[in-house]
Amino acid sequence: MLSSRMNDALNGQVNAELYSSYLYLSMSAYFEARKFRGLASWMRVQAGEELVHAMKMYDYVVSTGGRARFPAVDAPPFEWSSPLNVFENVYNHERKVTGLINALMDMAMAEKDSNTQAFLKWYVDEQVEEEESSGGALNKIRAAGTDTKAIQSFDKDMGQRKFKFPRGFVMFPYNQETTIGSMK
Ligand code: FEO
Repeated sequence: MLSSRMNDALNGQVNAELYSSYLYLSMSAYFEARKFRGLASWMRVQAGEELVHAMKMYDYVVSTGGRARFPAVDAPPFEWSSPLNVFENVYNHERKVTGLINALMDMAMAEKDSNTQAFLKWYVDEQVEEEESSGGALNKIRAAGTDTKAIQSFDKDMGQRKFKFPRGFVMFPYNQETTIGSMK
């Protein structure tokens, strides 16, 4: 059973993950507008992953008897000064999210809530990957500088990224096919 403080904090993180999804979708649209299809695709996958992060946490709140609540999601920025500036923002954003996850873990430890600690471990590991992949992308685009060919090659490489659901995660647990079929 979640404490009401932990319930609120997890709801706050669901909101933060939804904001992340919004942010990356906005970045995807930025790249679409500039015809960087690979980078647009990478950001779209990233937006999808953030939605999964939110849903996984929502599922945890609901499955532990908590109550999910949904305050407004902030509007993300619309423009960036350059593709490099986008990736600087991605990296800084992921570092900020790592701080939020660590604060949640601190709270779960202070409350001796071992169930939530075990649940959050997935996010701790995920943030290591998120910082690595966004930091790696930032280094590559920084190295490309103003070399158009190098930026095009970066765009192409980034477009190879495929979306994967985390192991064991089910996005639509409630008889999804029947529900969609019945809406036709
Ligand atoms: Fe949900 Fe990119 O962290």
